[in-house]
Amino acid sequence: MERFKYWLNATQSFHPQWRPLVTLSYAQSLDGCLAVRRGQPTMLSGPASTCLTHMLRASHETILVGIGTVLVDNPQLNNRLAPGPSPQPIILDTYLRTPLTSRLMQRNDRLPWIFTGRDIDANRREAYEGKGATIFICTEDRKGYLNLSVIMRCLSKVGVRSIMVEGGARVISSFLRHRLVDRAVVTLTPIWLAGLPVLERSRNHIVFPSGYPRLAKPFYRQVGAELVACGLVEES
Ligand SMILES: NC(=O)c1ccc[n+]([C@@H]2O[C@H](COP(=O)([O-])OP(=O)(O)OC[C@H]3O[C@@H](n4cnc5c(N)ncnc54)[C@H](OP(=O)(O)O)[C@@H]3O)[C@@H](O)[C@H]2O)c1
Repeated sequence: MERFKYWLNATQSFHPQWRPLVTLSYAQSLDGCLAVRRGQPTMLSGPASTCLTHMLRASHETILVGIGTVLVDNPQLNNRLAPGPSPQPIILDTYLRTPLTSRLMQRNDRLPWIFTGRDIDANRREAYEGKGATIFICTEDRKGYLNLSVIMRCLSKVGVRSIMVEGGARVISSFLRHRLVDRAVVTLTPIWLAGLPVLERSRNHIVFPSGYPRLAKPFYRQVGAELVACGLVEES
């Protein structure tokens, strides 16, 4: 863990001035899958790499997931295993589908910040705010997703300096496609799944039109039964 802590501290300033530092972190199978299939919760981390994930959570101010992950995994996104605080949870949820009964909406400490589209119902918005969540209205991009550049600027404006992006597949793909990832910590689990690929492939557009993101200055460590790859993300 000391090597990871050292690297996290040493790379804390590797982000553009206009937005927070973005660290991508997820677990994948040997054949590059996040889950058995979209919609099925799949535990891919063992106890030791789960501890690493919580240590990462403790070292970021915020943690971000898509609504797909909220609906399937019902995560808490807090830090329960490492010294240090829990990050502020953030959900990308255009149509405000986060269940009011979800674990994130039941937390006693930090209720989520939810980025939504412009057409949400005022009464529904009030229901979330009444429970303590914060709603941010956001414009959409050409794909119909929430505009990540707008979200980054908004988070920067409210003083956020670091974001840990935990998934799922669509969110990971969007962040990488928009070149918004500074660091990555990827856990490789020794299993084949033939399931949901980490990256979305689309027939209608090229995922990486101008060069491929790659890990620069990577280092690799075995953590329990898994292999963890860490590095700065650069374009090749
Ligand atoms: N192995 C791991 O480490 C790991 C980690 C996390 C999740 N998972 C798995 O991943 C799966 C969920 O992945 P997923 O791809 O279905 O869902 P997701 O990436 O969690 O969420 C995607 C949804 O977020 C919303 N969204 C809004 N703005 C977006 C943007 N700019 N870019 C991308 N999404 C945006 C969209 O829904 P709206 O249009 O409704 O807003 C979109 O469909 C689950 O099976 C979960 O178990 C695995």
